[in-house]
Amino acid sequence: MKRIGILTGGGDCPGLNPVIRAVVRKGLLEGYQILGIKNGWKGLVENDTFPLNIDTVSGILPRGGTILGTSRTNPYKKEGDVEKVKMNFKKMELDALVAVGGEDTLGVAAKLVKDGLPNIVGVPKTIDNDLSATDYTFGFDTALNVAMECIDRLHTTAESHHRIIVAEVMGRHAGWIALEAGIAGGADVVLIPEVPIDVDEVCNIIKKRHARGKTFSIVVVAEGAQFKGSQMVTQEQKLDAFGHVRLGGIGENLALQIEQRTGFETRVSVLGHIQRGGSPTAFDRVLGTRFGVKAVELIKNKKFGNMVALAGIKIIDVPLADAVKALKTVDMELYDIAKVFFG
Ligand code: F6P
Repeated sequence: MKRIGILTGGGDCPGLNPVIRAVVRKGLLEGYQILGIKNGWKGLVENDTFPLNIDTVSGILPRGGTILGTSRTNPYKKEGDVEKVKMNFKKMELDALVAVGGEDTLGVAAKLVKDGLPNIVGVPKTIDNDLSATDYTFGFDTALNVAMECIDRLHTTAESHHRIIVAEVMGRHAGWIALEAGIAGGADVVLIPEVPIDVDEVCNIIKKRHARGKTFSIVVVAEGAQFKGSQMVTQEQKLDAFGHVRLGGIGENLALQIEQRTGFETRVSVLGHIQRGGSPTAFDRVLGTRFGVKAVELIKNKKFGNMVALAGIKIIDVPLADAVKALKTVDMELYDIAKVFFG
């Protein structure tokens, strides 16, 4: 019997369990055995697995997180780990691997395909929605709706107290969450990594708004946004296995400057991992399910080295290498639409 392995790597997001369920259900229908690999690439390095069957995936569709666990392990970081991955792939008697992840996890998958482990297909996930070659990644819609709801809640308290509230949302290199949650939640300023922050301009927008009688404002800022001429604000300088620093703190920094320059009382709310937790939206459940089914179809048709992707309303496949070439930053036309509502 042929065997498919599946792993989930990198930051988790709502929608991973629907993908796992879909790979298992479609895989079983097609006559495959499915092996769950624990904690991303770590499970392949350490040969840490458990069998997946119809019972293990029963009831997981609405659950956030991933029943497989995840990690930010990069086998290309430690000498000998790539060899361990190849050896364990054989030991596990895998015919194919489904790698579910973002730029880092799929970057490893693309390298492995080149380095002698060709039977891999990718499934794109990330709340940041910054993967190229797919219109959307699952996880984004849930994070966006959580952020929008938080912005709605911040509105009511900001209005009662006549305050400015800065909402810091996730988004390392791309401001999709900030931008779309800002539009959906009616933010008065939206700040994204793609456009350096001019604090004077932000304060002018707020002052003008207050001059027309408003006594509160909501500023949405992506954690990866940067002040003009300076670096990203980080919590610590330590890099993870993929060379990323831990972001966070831009909201606090910005709130201080706004209060000092405008004289308006300002608070900050960091949404953080709340955006990554909890039950996936219907959109993410359906997208994850479609991606999982398509991944098994790719394996069945031996279309390895590809990633499933959303193009318009169709699920297609694209070369893994194309997906990890460049990050998909925000569409500036959409940012221009958000700007119409600034102030
Ligand atoms: O890449 C997804 C993401 O949620 C980023 O927006 C954020 O910078 C990062 O992961 C946070 O990662 P961690 O879970 O390691 O704090």
